[in-house]
Amino acid sequence: MSLSLFLSFFFLLHPLVLAQLAENQRSIMLNLPHLLNISSSPWDVTKEPNPCLWQGVTCGDPPKNSSIISLSLYGFGLSSSDFLSEVCRIDSLRSLNLSNNNLESISDGFFNSCGGIDGLKVLDFSSNRLVGPLPAFRNFVGLEVLDLSFNNLNGEINSQLSQLVSLKSLNLSANRFIGSVPTQLGKPSVLEQLQLSKNLFHGKIPVELLAYMNLTLIDLSDNNLTGSIPVAIGSLSKLRFLLLSHNGLTGEIPKSISNIITLQRFAANQNNFVGEVPVGITRYIKILDLSYNNLSGLIPSDLLSQSSLQHVDLSYNLLKGTIPERMSSSLVRLRLGSNFLNGSIPTTLTKLQNLAYLELENNSFSGSIPPELGACQNLSLLNLAQNNITGTLPAELGHLTKLQVMKLQQNKLGGQIPPEITQLQSLGILNISWNHLGGPIPSSISNLKKLTNMNLQSNNLVGFIPVSLGDLNLLLELNLGGNNLIIPPPQVIQGNLLTANGIHRSNIDFNKAMEAVASTENIVLKTRFSTYYKAIMPSGTSYFVKKLSWSDKLFQLGSHDKFEQELQVLGRLSNSNVMIPLAYVLTVDSAYLFYEYAAKGTLYDILHGSAKDALDWASRYSIAVGVAQGLAFLHGCTSSPILLLDLSSKNIMLRSLKEPQVADIELYKVIDPSKSTGSLSTVAGSVGYIPPEYAYTMRVTMAGNVYSFGVILLELLTGKPAVSEGTELAKWVLRNSMQQNNLDRILDFNISKTSLAARNQMLAVLKVAVACVSASPEARPKMKSVLRMLLNAR
Ligand SMILES: *[C@@H]1O[C@H](CO)[C@@H](O)[C@H](O)[C@H]1NC(C)=O
Ligand SMILES: *[C@@H]1O[C@H](CO)[C@@H](O)[C@H](O)[C@H]1NC(C)=O
Ligand SMILES: *[C@@H]1O[C@H](CO)[C@@H](O)[C@H](O)[C@H]1NC(C)=O
Ligand SMILES: *[C@@H]1O[C@H](CO)[C@@H](O)[C@H](O)[C@H]1NC(C)=O
Ligand SMILES: *[C@@H]1O[C@H](CO)[C@@H](O)[C@H](O)[C@H]1NC(C)=O
Ligand SMILES: *[C@@H]1O[C@H](CO)[C@@H](O)[C@H](O)[C@H]1NC(C)=O
Ligand SMILES: *[C@@H]1O[C@H](CO)[C@@H](O)[C@H](O)[C@H]1NC(C)=O
Ligand SMILES: *[C@@H]1O[C@H](CO)[C@@H](O)[C@H](O)[C@H]1NC(C)=O
Ligand SMILES: *[C@@H]1O[C@H](CO)[C@@H](O)[C@H](O)[C@H]1NC(C)=O
Ligand SMILES: *[C@@H]1O[C@H](CO)[C@@H](O)[C@H](O)[C@H]1NC(C)=O
Ligand SMILES: *[C@@H]1O[C@H](CO)[C@@H](O)[C@H](O)[C@H]1NC(C)=O
Ligand SMILES: *[C@@H]1O[C@H](CO)[C@@H](O)[C@H](O)[C@H]1NC(C)=O
Repeated sequence: MSLSLFLSFFFLLHPLVLAQLAENQRSIMLNLPHLLNISSSPWDVTKEPNPCLWQGVTCGDPPKNSSIISLSLYGFGLSSSDFLSEVCRIDSLRSLNLSNNNLESISDGFFNSCGGIDGLKVLDFSSNRLVGPLPAFRNFVGLEVLDLSFNNLNGEINSQLSQLVSLKSLNLSANRFIGSVPTQLGKPSVLEQLQLSKNLFHGKIPVELLAYMNLTLIDLSDNNLTGSIPVAIGSLSKLRFLLLSHNGLTGEIPKSISNIITLQRFAANQNNFVGEVPVGITRYIKILDLSYNNLSGLIPSDLLSQSSLQHVDLSYNLLKGTIPERMSSSLVRLRLGSNFLNGSIPTTLTKLQNLAYLELENNSFSGSIPPELGACQNLSLLNLAQNNITGTLPAELGHLTKLQVMKLQQNKLGGQIPPEITQLQSLGILNISWNHLGGPIPSSISNLKKLTNMNLQSNNLVGFIPVSLGDLNLLLELNLGGNNLIIPPPQVIQGNLLTANGIHRSNIDFNKAMEAVASTENIVLKTRFSTYYKAIMPSGTSYFVKKLSWSDKLFQLGSHDKFEQELQVLGRLSNSNVMIPLAYVLTVDSAYLFYEYAAKGTLYDILHGSAKDALDWASRYSIAVGVAQGLAFLHGCTSSPILLLDLSSKNIMLRSLKEPQVADIELYKVIDPSKSTGSLSTVAGSVGYIPPEYAYTMRVTMAGNVYSFGVILLELLTGKPAVSEGTELAKWVLRNSMQQNNLDRILDFNISKTSLAARNQMLAVLKVAVACVSASPEARPKMKSVLRMLLNAR
């Protein structure tokens, strides 16, 4: 075979070989993998010789594909941008995507070289770690899309972007920019999308923005803007999205917004707007959110009737009057909760076939629930709670096969619970508490297989509690209190002693204890899963009796037997810093566990209550060491470690100001977080104490406990609660502990000022605490080392 014949044969089989990159670009590309400075580069010439076929590389001008037109290094793990000056030699580049890397700065080489590529249209640096002020983009005359969102850029924005004469889309969202909203953004009439949310911009919405006539999106939400919306905003005739949520804006909502024919979504929630909702505001809009403002007056009669309207949220305002009768059948979501609305629920709702969410809670609605509501086939959430609604619960509601949440609590509903309600096959939450419902609980209630929360509290329900409730396997919360229900006779109250201690064995009187728990006056503490009662025994000694509600529903242990086995194991433990069950009583709906009485109550109450001054450094240090001792003991249990499902200063009990005990050790054994609807963090732990990884795992871990313990240490050191003003203490401390000279400011000055020795010890303990609250679970020390470090800090 001649060479030419061979070649043509080869080309027939491999047409791609024709598509070769120009030699200069090829050599740039072959050099790049070395410059990226990452351990495993997805670009590997030994695996694929043609750079045009590498991941993220697009070559243009078919059929020759002679030049590179776009590069995406999305998520390559890059930490340095030095290689960019090399990339910028590719003068055919139209798009460069560096999103989702670890870049802390953009190299000068980039600005010098890439600025000269007139064809460069798209630049994406989003989701990196860029810091410092916004660099000036000189040249870049062709740039249309600039995305710098989700970085840590700061400072003011003046003229850095003024030379971007082709800029159509600018995204600076989620940075730390300050100063006023920038107005020199390339060329007015070119810019279409302006995304500036989640920054610290302040001052007014500048009228200069209104010169940008081609804007389709303005997102200024989550800033610190004040003043009112410029009335001339209505002249932005191409606007599709106007998002101003979560600022400090005031004044009235301009009526001119209703002139924008293209407007699809308008959000101005969480501001301080006053005055009335303008007539016509929803003429063209699909989504309107004006919740959490101070809007007053009536709901305009045309508001809900516009044909494009899908979502309306006016909740948390000062609106009065009634719900307009005319409603658009396109409505999907209607939220009018927490206003001063009255009158009855309109029967016109019945025509709303698309309605999925109806939330009218916390108003003054009266009259009865229209049976026609049963025709809203798409309804998945119905919240009419906290109104003045009378009449009966219509049986027709049983037709709502998609209904997941029914909240009708705190009304004046009478009659009986219609058995039809038990046909709601999707229902997860049923709250009809605090009404006047009578009659029995329908025995078919166990048909509600998806039920996770059922609250029938404080009605006039009578008869037996259906035994079939035991079949509701997903139930996490059941409240039947405040009725006249009878516990069925399968029920025997039998007390069991766990402790070997003779004094406790002779003190504990089960009948006396059950009398004590029958009275709410004896409640000393309520936590997420349990209620503590004080029970004084005939001998005069006090005990805690802790009630776990609806034990075998909340708990993964299907039977009393298994629960009893777990209690037997826990009852054999011995450690002075752990609350160990001494005895228990099991009933069909509750478990009662007995403990020694801790006279001082919870650490939380002492530390953050009026008695906080009593807690000097010596006590705080003793508490820290005691809790660490208790946890190290639990984590080190030889059979299997005992973890805390919920560890916070609210379940550290104090026998004296120096003797802490870790409580609630049984919860981890008996609650199954996987039965919760959300992530683990919705079940395990209290806000402020939840380690970051619980948001995406379903497993309680030792490292998770160490995190929560770290937060308790920080409470002892700072005197601050785990969460204050929405900020988590751990995050606040981590932020402030970066700088050595800030450390003193973290400490509770009332305590650290008492002596130099106390201050130095506190600083040493602070180091331990900071290690415990490391974001990465692997970086946290084990409880045993924590204890050793604390003892060394003495
Ligand atoms: C050349 O471009 C065409 C069209 O964009 C594409 O299908 C082909 O895979 C490219 N070839 C190479 C080698 O990149
Ligand atoms: C290359 O990466 C290593 C570690 O990832 C880093 O320490 C080094 O500074 C980087 N080199 C350059 C030139 O950026
Ligand atoms: C950058 O790449 C990511 C991942 O492919 C993509 O989601 C994003 O839209 C790209 N950016 C631009 C501006 O095209
Ligand atoms: C930045 O904003 C633009 C315009 O709204 C949008 O298309 C893009 O997806 C945003 N970038 C990120 C990372 O969300
Ligand atoms: C404004 O947008 C329109 C399309 O909506 C476009 O034709 C026009 O060129 C844009 N104006 C400028 C100056 O780019
Ligand atoms: C927001 O503005 C208010 C008043 O204008 C000011 O007190 C507050 O500190 C500002 N917040 C931030 C984060 O800049
Ligand atoms: C909004 O209304 C509340 C209660 O009526 C009032 O306390 C608050 O000052 C009002 N805020 C503004 C900005 O008007
Ligand atoms: C009920 O509405 C009033 C008035 O808007 C509000 O102040 C209150 O916080 C709301 N209550 C609840 C429980 O949301
Ligand atoms: C609704 O409240 C208004 C006052 O805001 C009152 O005049 C009217 O009588 C009330 N209507 C009903 C049905 O309660
Ligand atoms: C109901 O909701 C579904 C999506 O959940 C939607 O596709 C449908 O169009 C809605 N409307 C009706 C009348 O079913
Ligand atoms: C409920 O109605 C009663 C009498 O009809 C009235 O006195 C009461 O103020 C109303 N409560 C609310 C919250 O509207
Ligand atoms: C049910 O309503 C009561 C009374 O308002 C409230 O305390 C409870 O948290 C509600 N539970 C659910 C699951 O909605």
